[in-house]
Order: sequence, then structure tokens, then C-alpha cells
Amino acid sequence: MKRYIMAAIAALALSSAAYADTIKVGVIGPFSGPFALQGKNFKAGIDAYIAVNGNKVGDHEVEVIYRDVPQPDPAQSKALAQELVIKEGVQYLAGFYFTPDAMAATPLLKQANVPMVIMNAATSAIVTKSPYVVRTSFTTWQTSTPIAQVARDKGIGKVISVVSDYGPGVDAENAFKAAFETAGGSVVEAIRIPLATNDFSPIMQRIKDSGAEAVFAFLPSGPTTLGFVKAYNENGLKEAGVQFLAPGDLTQESDLPALGEAATGILTTFHYAVSHDSPENKAFVEAASKAIGNPAELSFPSVGAYDGMHVIYKMIEATGGEQDAEKAVEAVKGLSWQSPRGPVTIDPESRHLTQNIYLREVAKGDDGKYYNKEIQTFENQGDPGLTAGK
Ligand code: PHB
Repeated sequence: MKRYIMAAIAALALSSAAYADTIKVGVIGPFSGPFALQGKNFKAGIDAYIAVNGNKVGDHEVEVIYRDVPQPDPAQSKALAQELVIKEGVQYLAGFYFTPDAMAATPLLKQANVPMVIMNAATSAIVTKSPYVVRTSFTTWQTSTPIAQVARDKGIGKVISVVSDYGPGVDAENAFKAAFETAGGSVVEAIRIPLATNDFSPIMQRIKDSGAEAVFAFLPSGPTTLGFVKAYNENGLKEAGVQFLAPGDLTQESDLPALGEAATGILTTFHYAVSHDSPENKAFVEAASKAIGNPAELSFPSVGAYDGMHVIYKMIEATGGEQDAEKAVEAVKGLSWQSPRGPVTIDPESRHLTQNIYLREVAKGDDGKYYNKEIQTFENQGDPGLTAGK
């Protein structure tokens, strides 16, 4: 069966080159279930890009086909990626909110002659699984390293870390610890919790008991992060003087109304804030707000998706619509542009973005709404996760 699928993929990759005047892009993400808002942001970013740039590259019409993987499920992701390639004849695979879903589809890329543009999944190692992977999001190494320096600058010496026990969580734990201990701090305890955890009260007790001055946390954005920050607020950690430090996944804009006043003052580092002050972001937020319907639902996966479409359009342009994954990927190595998040470049070695990472503080605006206020910029950050320990 497996051999049959591989042969079918290879045959299709050869045959489809000649008649591709509609170019199909297959997007895998969570479009239903608890993480549906994250998938909705993928779609809003893609729709916004098409609204601004049109649905044609040269003579080629771009068609986006969506497939739903509601929660991390590598087997389902792989099966749907195969179906998109074999039955739908997609020339590009994109999306991938969760790391395990992206990882599972990478072995198909070479035989299928299909590039993969990752719009969210943030474990450093994914780009090493295939030369046909390009990423337009961030890595948790990239976003968790600067917050360690921020913590030291604030005079924090002892931290407890809490992460979801899978790729991006383990990366975040390692990134924070490496940077924090190099700067003279100490991680007194490192807790890994199952992805499915939804009762965070026992963890909050452990954080209190640890004697740490701050907690560093990473969980994948969605109901998980909302629950975790709520538990931090409701279990009196702030009153006990335990500072909260995290990458921006923990304070995504769409969660801020539900977190309310208790979240103000939380410090995070991240590649994108909806409030980012630039003409590119103003235009993006306008288009993405229209696409999503309710602007309060906008969050970071929309920008990964918007930039992902930019990369796919460049690939289609470079290949003249022919199916040639190697040529497509070569064409975007070193590509620079003004993203809504700021200036970005695809590093030719890693095929991952070099970008600014911003320190932000949750604040209340004059309009009474909460937002991530950018207060410091760490410019041109590569991915430390790819060089760590080498
Ligand atoms: C991932 O699974 O790589 C992932 C998901 C959600 C995030 C960050 C990383 O917020």
C-alpha cells in the first residue's frame, strides 16, 4: 500500500507539470474543535493576501484547498497531505499549526515534488527534515531566548519553567534555560506537562512552592494558553510576587478580552503584535479584519499565513507555474520583504525567517481594549535552535 502511494505520488508529480494553469495550494490546519480560531486566522491571512494581491500569478490562477486537523494528529495530517497531493494535485502544501502535523508530512515532499510552507509550527528541527520546507512563522527558540535577557535585566535570578511536553515546549524550555543561565540566572525546576492538561491549579501550587521569583511558560496558543494564564491570575501568583515570563503565544490578542485586567503588565517576547505600528501592518490589519469578520479574533497565525502566501506567490512566479519544488525553494532563499511584523529575510541556510523579536507588555488602550504594547526590539534574530549545542 505504502509503495503504491509513493509510486502514485511520483507519477503525479511528473505528469501534472504540463497542465497546471490552476495552481492548487493545500492548507492543513485546525479549522474545527478547540483550536478552530487558530485555523480561522490561517484562513484570514490567506484571504487577506488574495484580497490585496489578487488570485493570479501571471496567467496562473491560485486555488486554496483546506483540510481540517483539529488537534495534533500526525497520522491524520499525513493522510490528508497524501490525499491533497494525489487526488487534488496540489503543487504546494502549507499551513500546519502543530509541529507533529508538519513533521509527519515532510517525508512526502521529495517524491511528490512539493514544497511545504509552514505558517505556524515552531519546533526548530522541522526545517531539517526536508530541503523542501520553508517557514514563515517563528521558532520557540527564537521567541524564548530574548525574554531570558529581559528577566536578567529586571534582576530576576531564579525561575521555574513550565512547558507542554512536545517539540516546541521542549525547545522553549531549552532556549530559556540556555540564555538565562548564560546571563547568570538559574532555572530551579523545569516542569513538562502533557498537551492535554486542562487543570492547572496543581502546577500553580508547585510554582508557588518552588520559591522561584518568576515562572517561564510555553503552551501552544488556544484554550490551553487561556486556561494557563487564567490559572496564574486566579491562584494568586501575581499577589505572591511571582512574575510571569513567556513568549507571546501566552498572550495572543484574541485571548486578551477574556483575561482582562489581570493580564496587564505581563511581559512576553514575540515576532508579531496586532498593534505593530507600520504602514504594512495597518494595511494588513485592515484586510485581515475584513477577512475574519470580527477584528477581536485576529491573532498571530494570520501573519504567518499572509507571509506564507507571499512566499508561495514568489515560488509560482519563479517556476512559471511548473511543478519544480527544488527551483521554487531555491528562488526564495535569501528573499527579503516588509512583513506586517517588520523586515524579514528567509535565511538561505535554514529556510527559516530572520526577523525582529519584540518585548511587549499587556496594556489597556484609551479605547478600553487590551493589547500587546511593543516596548523594545531585538533586531534581526535568527534561529538559535539550529546552532544550539553545535
Ligand atoms: C507548534 O505545535 O509548533 C506550535 C503550536 C502553537 C504555538 C506554537 C507552536 O503557539
